[in-house]
Amino acid sequence: MLKNKISISFKLNGQKVTREIKPSLLLIELIRDEFGLTGTKPGCLEGECGACSVLVNGEAINSCLFLALNIDKKELITIEGLAGKNELDEVQKSLIKKGAVQCGFCTSGMAISIKSIQNHFSKQKYKPAKEEIVKMLEGNLCRCTGYVKIIEAAVEVIRGIRV
Ligand code: FES
Ligand code: FES
Repeated sequence: MLKNKISISFKLNGQKVTREIKPSLLLIELIRDEFGLTGTKPGCLEGECGACSVLVNGEAINSCLFLALNIDKKELITIEGLAGKNELDEVQKSLIKKGAVQCGFCTSGMAISIKSIQNHFSKQKYKPAKEEIVKMLEGNLCRCTGYVKIIEAAVEVIRGIRV
């Protein structure tokens, strides 16, 4: 182990990885600077916009507020790992189908948060109402689209309607 560094091992988009990191390193820095996965966007860096969302053990977190050392022994999925080998995830397909992307800065965070909500409700085998989905997406800000198409895409995919 290097001086003043700690060793972490975790699964990144399906692959086991190990790194020596400074204890103060943020997860967003690890993802973007160490692994070059720039789909995770630095927006506010204060936990307000959701652009930096990633899945940790299936749940969305803000990687700008999460110390990288806390990813040890967990499973991390970034937007680069959301799709399968040969096709996009159904959340991504739904966002495209609804035309829910303009500049795209918020889109990876939106897709990750929608996936997290879908994971949450599919575990409970419960179809949430649109209002519940809108409430749960409040942590993701979009400055371009006005949200209508994003919400349509989210509702369609989370409620399990084929896209
Ligand atoms: S960049 Fe993390 S919440 Fe805005
Ligand atoms: S599409 Fe531009 S911020 Fe959402």
